[in-house]
Amino acid sequence: MTREQREKTKTKRKPERRKIAIAIDGPAGSGKSTVAKRVAEELGILYLDTGAMYRAVTLKALRNGVSMDNQEALTRLAAQVALDFQRMPDGSYHLLMDGEDVSEEIRTLAVSQNVSLVAAVPGVRAELVKQQQAIGARGGVVMDGRDIGTVVLPHADLKIFLTASLEERTRRRWLELTAKGLNVTAEEIKADLTRRDAIDSGREVAPLRPAADSVTIDTSNLRIEEVVERVMALAAARKTLDPPGLLYKICGTILYICLKLFYRFSVEGAEHLPATGPVIVACNHCSLLDPIVVGCSILQRPVSFMAKEELFRIPLLGPIIRKLGAFPVRRGKGDRAAIRAAVEVLKEGKVLGIFPEGTRYKDNKLHPLRHGITLLAMETNARILPMIIRGTQQLNFFRFPKIKVYIGEAFQLVPGGTKKEMITEGTTVIYSRLLQLWEKTN
Ligand code: DC
Repeated sequence: MTREQREKTKTKRKPERRKIAIAIDGPAGSGKSTVAKRVAEELGILYLDTGAMYRAVTLKALRNGVSMDNQEALTRLAAQVALDFQRMPDGSYHLLMDGEDVSEEIRTLAVSQNVSLVAAVPGVRAELVKQQQAIGARGGVVMDGRDIGTVVLPHADLKIFLTASLEERTRRRWLELTAKGLNVTAEEIKADLTRRDAIDSGREVAPLRPAADSVTIDTSNLRIEEVVERVMALAAARKTLDPPGLLYKICGTILYICLKLFYRFSVEGAEHLPATGPVIVACNHCSLLDPIVVGCSILQRPVSFMAKEELFRIPLLGPIIRKLGAFPVRRGKGDRAAIRAAVEVLKEGKVLGIFPEGTRYKDNKLHPLRHGITLLAMETNARILPMIIRGTQQLNFFRFPKIKVYIGEAFQLVPGGTKKEMITEGTTVIYSRLLQLWEKTN
């Protein structure tokens, strides 16, 4: 093989990194489209304004005299209309509807006043969501709308929910529309926003609501640059990662097979593991085997654990567990180095396993949590993946109980209040999510 051929196979073997997919949801006037456009530009990826698609169908309906109650006709329109976004040399996006540039017309008050009705039609949504998902399937996109994080891209690498007060949103829309020469009053805009908020949030299909694992940002008192900066920082932490190393894969597979053979190991809910970004696996703890069980439950992504310092001094075992991502902690004292290492793991966008009860319990109860997990989640914006292990409390040398793992939906702590309030509230939220899963699986 020539050097050139070797180089070629090397590049071929390297797994292709998927580009990031970002979902930005929120009510009208929260700053979604401005932020989404800027973030897409900075990352050099596509921007898709899904609201413009619903507006285009509305415009077509108005032009064709289709009634806003005629769900069948509206669905037919959505299926027939050809929508295409074109990026102009000045960086703006224009929407072509059946070849005609309708970018200005879809922003008129007549369209705004009817679009929520059109967007509430299940058939219209199904049609447009299908097109949006086809565009989002390969990553490399920032999509804004109302249901991007919950329906269109449920596995987006980063989900943002933008909010702002009604007064601020009215002010922004008024400035935007009057700058375009449209003759509207603040009262008209406020009434329109209030009505649309109610329809968008109250409809049966895909209502406006933050995804459980989204980061909420209130933009009322923030400049656009500040919001963009915040989203960019979160995006940097959610960059797509390399798959697990060879040693991790080999050890993981062997341990997985052993668990299957001896303990009839099974996992429910593995699909809830976020594909990218920092994640804290919060798990109940009954046995020394638990870190292995956690790792084998989500083999797609390596899990790092804090482990007793003494283990790292054992020949062979020490270097192996270090290579597998464990890091030492001195028991009993507040070990700053271990906490720094945990923050580092998460800031690199990796997965950290934590037993937040603080110690092992064999009494088949879920015990109150320590606050460390909340502090880590707050400092790193990590998502929390609740996990319950059943069976390991019965383990001993002579018993091989069935081990079953249940994984719940990942979620994000929402910041608010003083630091002390946030910690107490955060720990309560994590505990209640774990308890829900515990009770559901008891
Ligand atoms: O973001 P916008 O104001 O241009 O959105 C127009 C309307 O479309 C809005 O009232 C809600 C609806 N919409 C939706 O239901 N789902 C989306 N993904 C995007 C917009």
